[in-house]
Amino acid sequence: MLTLAVLISGTGSNLRALLEAASEPSFPARVVVVGADREADGLAHAEAFGIPSFVVPWRGAAERAAWGAELAEQLAVWQPDLVVLSGLMKLLPPPVVAEYAPRIINTHPAYLPEFPGAHGVRDALAAGAKQTGASVIVVDDGVDAGPILAQRRVPVLPDDDEASLHERIKPVERELLIETVRRIATGDLDLAAPVPIS
Ligand code: GAR
Repeated sequence: MLTLAVLISGTGSNLRALLEAASEPSFPARVVVVGADREADGLAHAEAFGIPSFVVPWRGAAERAAWGAELAEQLAVWQPDLVVLSGLMKLLPPPVVAEYAPRIINTHPAYLPEFPGAHGVRDALAAGAKQTGASVIVVDDGVDAGPILAQRRVPVLPDDDEASLHERIKPVERELLIETVRRIATGDLDLAAPVPIS
């Protein structure tokens, strides 16, 4: 059974979908802990599923290294097989990435390498893109630049705003995330030599 630590910053709707999937007895992974960089609304999903959680508050970029060290200490308590960034809106410092690489994955609301960064949905709209997408990647020291594990296109509709487009992307992200975790857990996907699916 693959054990997961999930890190969030926001509402945690993708976390919730993963918790639901992982509560199925046949699913080959379990969430053992949820962490956040703030008192995120999504921590309520962990509580609802009886999963322990922790918060390591973000104290600004100058404190990134200390924040990362504290985060790593919390993660070490749980010894997760895989760390899932599910809407964590902070870059992990290199020592944390090095400790877990390549066992850290991230979901992103765009068809990478298009529109990396904190505003993937907004940037796709601003660029006038006719289609965008969702991606699941391995985390490395770049910004959304690691190997792509899964991705799928999502059309941009003429009357889309950031919220409506993001709400159409998220269900695709959820499917890709759950399928990617399942493939990692069953050994169908080797994080050290990934072959992307769509
Ligand atoms: C998701 O769309 C995730 O891909 C995005 O934040 C959202 C979190 O939603 N992450 C990034 O943009 C990271 N660059 P949720 O809190 O409802 O799951």
